[in-house]
Amino acid sequence: MPTTSEHERNFISTRDWNKADLDRLLNLAKDMKQNPSKYRNALDGKSLCMFFYNPSTRTRNSTEIAAYQLGMHPTFNSIKDSWVGYNSESIKDTAIVLSRYFDAIGIRIFPVAVDWKYKEGNRILREFAKWSTVPIINFEDDQYHPLQALNDIFTIKEKKEKSEGKKIVISWAYHPKPLPLSVPNSTVLATTLYGMDVTLAHPKNFELDDEIMLAAKNNAKKSGGTLTISHDIEEAYQDADVIYAKSWGSIQQYGKPKEEKALRTPYRDEWCVSEKHMALTKPDSVFMHCLPIRRNIVAKDEVVDGKHSIVYDQAENRLYTVKALLYDLLSSTM
Ligand code: CP
Repeated sequence: MPTTSEHERNFISTRDWNKADLDRLLNLAKDMKQNPSKYRNALDGKSLCMFFYNPSTRTRNSTEIAAYQLGMHPTFNSIKDSWVGYNSESIKDTAIVLSRYFDAIGIRIFPVAVDWKYKEGNRILREFAKWSTVPIINFEDDQYHPLQALNDIFTIKEKKEKSEGKKIVISWAYHPKPLPLSVPNSTVLATTLYGMDVTLAHPKNFELDDEIMLAAKNNAKKSGGTLTISHDIEEAYQDADVIYAKSWGSIQQYGKPKEEKALRTPYRDEWCVSEKHMALTKPDSVFMHCLPIRRNIVAKDEVVDGKHSIVYDQAENRLYTVKALLYDLLSSTM
């Protein structure tokens, strides 16, 4: 068995998968949602190791239940109850040993677990992948959250029938703490790949990194979508089909909490999504957020609980989309 080459079927970023393969996951997730009994125990006897260096509600529980419904045995490891192969035991030793027990390994690692060194979480995941002989699944690192992006495209297609030509606003929001860039990075990549007219709306100083923006522009060029940047929330929301609210920290002051907070604080009131903002969108627009959300800070209750909101359907879909990924990665070895 190979022990040093990166496993060919990891899920670390949607960028590593071509669109046809992502389409296959989306179709599978749809079938799994409509026909759950068809896949019951389809991965009987397979096992999944789940590492969480950071907390989680949706990723942890949707994956655990998806694995259970497929007949798998998932185990949960937190930073508190394991050597976790990063700051105590080498990644190499951990990845090789776990590959001997498990059929797949999922890992969440973003700041604070990696000390605000941008892309260090992603580097650790890729180091796991280098030594693992089973697929590595990204449960969110400091650069990407591919399970969330897959899920959100699935949800947009479900609610809007198609993604192509629909206007989405990825809408920065104030938050008391600086949050990772994994969700905005992954969302801008996935929505441009799927032909959407994407407006990335944020105040100055909250730009995404150049590598992500270049990849997103290339996606849009190929898919027939567009990518626009706006620093004016009201202008951005005009006639939108989808509002995707999310807070993220400034790369300019990454890992410097005091300096970073000074950049965020002036936008506290202006960038909290309210009914006033939603009134600028199309009448049948949807409001999305990956959750957890700070209510009345990121978006007002009137929006999260309002007629446009699909946040609970979006969260529910995490079960079907991660189930599709597990099945796609592991069913060929049954
Ligand atoms: N959206 C998401 O990944 O939620 P959790 O942090 O609860 O897993």
